Amino acid sequence: MIKNVIVDCDPGHDDIMAIMSILAHREAFNLLGLTTVNGNNLVDRVTDNLLKVLTYLDVDLKVAKGYDKPLVYDADPQIAHGESGLDGPVLPASKFSVVDMHAIEFMKQMAQTHDKITIIALAPLTNVALFLKTYPELKEKIECITLMGGSRSSGNILKRSEFNIYADPHAADIVFKSNIPVIMSDIEICLECSTDHEMIDGLKGKGYVHELAYAILEFFSQYNRKRNKDSSPVFDLVPVMQMLHPELFTYKKCQVDIELEGVHTRGMTVVSEGENCLLVEHLNDRTLYNQYFMEDLSILEERYSSSR
Ligand code: BDR
Ligand code: CA
Repeated sequence: MIKNVIVDCDPGHDDIMAIMSILAHREAFNLLGLTTVNGNNLVDRVTDNLLKVLTYLDVDLKVAKGYDKPLVYDADPQIAHGESGLDGPVLPASKFSVVDMHAIEFMKQMAQTHDKITIIALAPLTNVALFLKTYPELKEKIECITLMGGSRSSGNILKRSEFNIYADPHAADIVFKSNIPVIMSDIEICLECSTDHEMIDGLKGKGYVHELAYAILEFFSQYNRKRNKDSSPVFDLVPVMQMLHPELFTYKKCQVDIELEGVHTRGMTVVSEGENCLLVEHLNDRTLYNQYFMEDLSILEERYSSSR
């Protein structure tokens, strides 16, 4: 059944790949709009990055800008995405602008005007948490929050902390305590879903949409290429692929508690027995996963070229 979705994001290379897969599937997603938040870079930059990509793809969507800093900690941009937050692709100046409404007001309006909505959260959870705190009466309209974040035993900022949760642990705490169904795609499942560099190289010269995907993924994979790895995780793509192809994964119900402080543990997701979260545990078929991902790019390419 088609789902009403809002994507909360901080583009960010992998955010864009996730959005591209969503755009490829109009039969599965009614994309109500995108909200942006401080994360990979300052909110103005990530919003601008998103609008430029939408301009490149010539897709006019509702974009609402959200919070410019976490609930308690300071804004602290990621270095992994370069100076702009989306280094690599050459993008046109934006011909679109944001809606005249804060991200949480946009979420409110969408929740009020639709039966149920799903939030696909690909960034620190500041917008989502403050929406839930500000409009608790609309919680029941949220069918699910499916997020990229957290880890079972690893980390990419601290040894045990993943960026999206580390950046705003207080917001994550609100989300995991909300009693709304939460699906968590953590670092471990994202690593299982890595995309081969050979596949990324194969995008070159395949057309306008593929060129963008290539420039994004090529930059994003540099970290792993320099370390002689032959594949890279495209983190934010995972919750989208999980929605599109749930049968590709195994799942486990668990309890996730958030460490709010700690020199070594800020933002750690403490996973134990319980029920406040559905963990995307393992991937059954990486070849098929990546084949679906490549097909999404071809769908967009075809659509783009037939509309020229
Ligand atoms: C997450 O942090 C960001 O750098 C990515 O966009 C992703 O959402 C991975 O830890
Ligand atoms: Ca992100």
